[in-house]
Amino acid sequence: MPLPPHNLLLLPLILLPLTFASPNANAMEGSETETLFSIMSSMSSDRDWRSYAPDPCSPGSSWPGIECKPGPNGRLHVTKLIFGTPPNPTCKASATFPSQIFDLPFLQSAHFFSCFKSKKTTLFFPRSSLSSPLQQLSLRANPSLIGAIPPQIAFLKSLQVLTLSQNHLHGEIPESISSLSSLIHLDLSYNSLNGRIPPQMGKMTGLIDLDLSYNSLTGLIPPSIGEMGSLQKLDLSSNSLWGSIPQSFGKLKMLTFLALSDNRLNGFPHIGLEKLQSLQYLIIDSNPMFTPLPPELGELPRLQELRLANSGYSGAIPRSFTRLRNLTTLSLGNNHLSGEIPQGLGGLSKMYHLNLSRNMLTGVVPFSDEFLRRLGRNLDLSGNPGLCLNGTGGLEGILGVGVCGKSSSSSSSDVEQPLDGSRKGASSLGDRMSYWGFGIVGFSAMYCLCLL
Ligand SMILES: *[C@@H]1O[C@H](CO)[C@@H](O)[C@H](O)[C@H]1NC(C)=O
Ligand SMILES: *[C@@H]1O[C@H](CO)[C@@H](O)[C@H](O)[C@H]1NC(C)=O
Ligand SMILES: *[C@@H]1O[C@H](CO)[C@@H](O)[C@H](O)[C@H]1NC(C)=O
Repeated sequence: MPLPPHNLLLLPLILLPLTFASPNANAMEGSETETLFSIMSSMSSDRDWRSYAPDPCSPGSSWPGIECKPGPNGRLHVTKLIFGTPPNPTCKASATFPSQIFDLPFLQSAHFFSCFKSKKTTLFFPRSSLSSPLQQLSLRANPSLIGAIPPQIAFLKSLQVLTLSQNHLHGEIPESISSLSSLIHLDLSYNSLNGRIPPQMGKMTGLIDLDLSYNSLTGLIPPSIGEMGSLQKLDLSSNSLWGSIPQSFGKLKMLTFLALSDNRLNGFPHIGLEKLQSLQYLIIDSNPMFTPLPPELGELPRLQELRLANSGYSGAIPRSFTRLRNLTTLSLGNNHLSGEIPQGLGGLSKMYHLNLSRNMLTGVVPFSDEFLRRLGRNLDLSGNPGLCLNGTGGLEGILGVGVCGKSSSSSSSDVEQPLDGSRKGASSLGDRMSYWGFGIVGFSAMYCLCLL
């Protein structure tokens, strides 16, 4: 069958890619190649980069840790650089932060993982950063990356992901960071950042994930954080933040993960936390709260983990908690909780970690044998002298609770003390560590899937 004439018009289009495939037609531009060689030789002595691959982007000769894509003019450009972990180029001892990366006109993504380990270096954003299209900058686990985050970080207008976790950065978070309006993921965790959380950060309404945990931040949590309407994960754990949780948090409708542990927060006021209907993880251990537990937490149907240990909570465990049908973890240890354990807790079919240890709970433990067996060592009721078991043979050593006396009115004097407390403590810690590992990894995995 003869080719219809209009199909001939397609022929040039079909041939077009072949012309690009001719040698060097799509090679990198000279100045970009020079910048790249200069960065590579300052960063890594794995090989002689120039002789190894004179045209690093051309297919077949490309080196590890680099990605190239064709630009509008058909030429190839460096779009991604990764340093620090094999198979990517490893960093030499004299490597310092290469601010030349901002001169690569098509670089979208730069990663430095466990790279700067001996020579002290600081972040630097030259004026040329203003025209950098960088969307992702990640510097993680670089012990010799010191100094402050320069206000000029605001030059990087295209940034969507900024990770500066596990370095030795100190000083205050620059207010100007709030002008990075494309940012969706900001992780400054595990540094020594101090001062207050800039209230201006509330302007970052596109942010999905904010992690400022494990720093030395002080002051109140700015109410403006409640304006970050897209936030799904907020972690401010392990700082020195004080005051109460701002009322405005009730507006964070998308929030699935909220962690505020290890601060000096002293208020769990009526902030409308029950409005956080997406919340799955609420982790607020170790704060000097000294209030009753907020019953409205029982109105968060998606909650899977509720951790409020070591925070001076008093009064009874709210009956509303028994409505949290998706709860897998309830950790209320080391508070001043009193009264009986609500019957319905034992009916939560997904529960597999329940810690009510070191409180002043009283009465008969209301759990079925099935429940006790299912939780095993993930059930900790120890350190509540007023609790007793209704004659369930064999389990009391695991639970750290004695058997109720023959008469139904058990006094604490005829309740057995936990057996071999020291050994139990050690195994509990192991359980808790492995549990935590699982929880965090599980959440991260889920979270990464969301980002993709
Ligand atoms: C409880 O978890 C299940 C399975 O993970 C999920 O399908 C369901 O939507 C959750 N319930 C609520 C109220 O979120
Ligand atoms: C404890 O056992 C007694 C007698 O077996 C029973 O009458 C009582 O209802 C039980 N209490 C609980 C809370 O299970
Ligand atoms: C329960 O919580 C207490 C205090 O917060 C802790 O010391 C203990 O290790 C926990 N037990 C388990 C089994 O995780």
